[in-house]
Amino acid sequence: MNNPDKFLFNNELIKALRNARWITILTGAGISAESGIPTFRDAQRGLWANYSPEELASPEGFARNPELVWNWYEWRRKIISESRPNPGHYALARMEKIIPQVNIITQNVDGLHQLAGSLDVVELHGNIHRNRCSSENTLVDEILNGESKPPRCPRCKAFIRPDVVWFGESLPAASIERAIETSSKCDVFFSIGTSSVVYPAASLPFVARNQGAIIVEINPASTPLSPYSTYTLHGSAGFILPALMKVAWQEEESH
Ligand code: OAD
Repeated sequence: MNNPDKFLFNNELIKALRNARWITILTGAGISAESGIPTFRDAQRGLWANYSPEELASPEGFARNPELVWNWYEWRRKIISESRPNPGHYALARMEKIIPQVNIITQNVDGLHQLAGSLDVVELHGNIHRNRCSSENTLVDEILNGESKPPRCPRCKAFIRPDVVWFGESLPAASIERAIETSSKCDVFFSIGTSSVVYPAASLPFVARNQGAIIVEINPASTPLSPYSTYTLHGSAGFILPALMKVAWQEEESH
């Protein structure tokens, strides 16, 4: 494991980070990969290898087989409950304390940014820890164990579903408005651990780029965003983010 201090970053990038007043950060499944949570484009593991996320995470999939979809989310909830934030999540939470304005816009539903201490988090695709009535769309807090799978709404008896966005569903309006607003005002926009193929999230870096923000992508692989990024840092978020924080801000403290 090479020493983070030796991970050279472009001086212009470091200067831009030190001068930044507003940083917006878009994250995807890749930032939680080092917490042990499979990404969407990873092959589905174990029991779920024969199902595609589109089949499971969609209204059609839920209508076709509500119990299967509910069990898939229970399986994912179990993985997430055994996961902890990784150094990438913690680095972003520290950034929030150093820079006047830091907003995280996440596509993830695992809640790990909040668990790591980030306060300003927009969950574009909802949160797997919340459930809602599939008919009323109101949140359901209390699920009695031993209920049917999926459990039923205590009010109208319709099936309960996870409070997450499924393929083909629209994003919560307030979330996407906030995401566009913060992307249109930031000095620096990070895109971390996302394949940049799912819209409207994938359009946010371009909203930032069009108003002159510096675009920093962190991903071991190239993505459709890479040719448009000001800086593309190829590597894992759990390694690069702490190293970047150290070079950009710890060094400054030592001056
Ligand atoms: P993907 O699985 O599409 O992409 C994960 C990205 O993370 C890939 O580009 C990987 O190269 C990268 N990656 C893997 N390990 C990494 C690491 N350690 N550090 C940094 N990057 C790493 O996940 P998303 O882009 O988040 O939507 O997928 C976007 C949306 O597609 C999801 O939110 C979900 C899915 O449909 C809904 O559920 C509505």
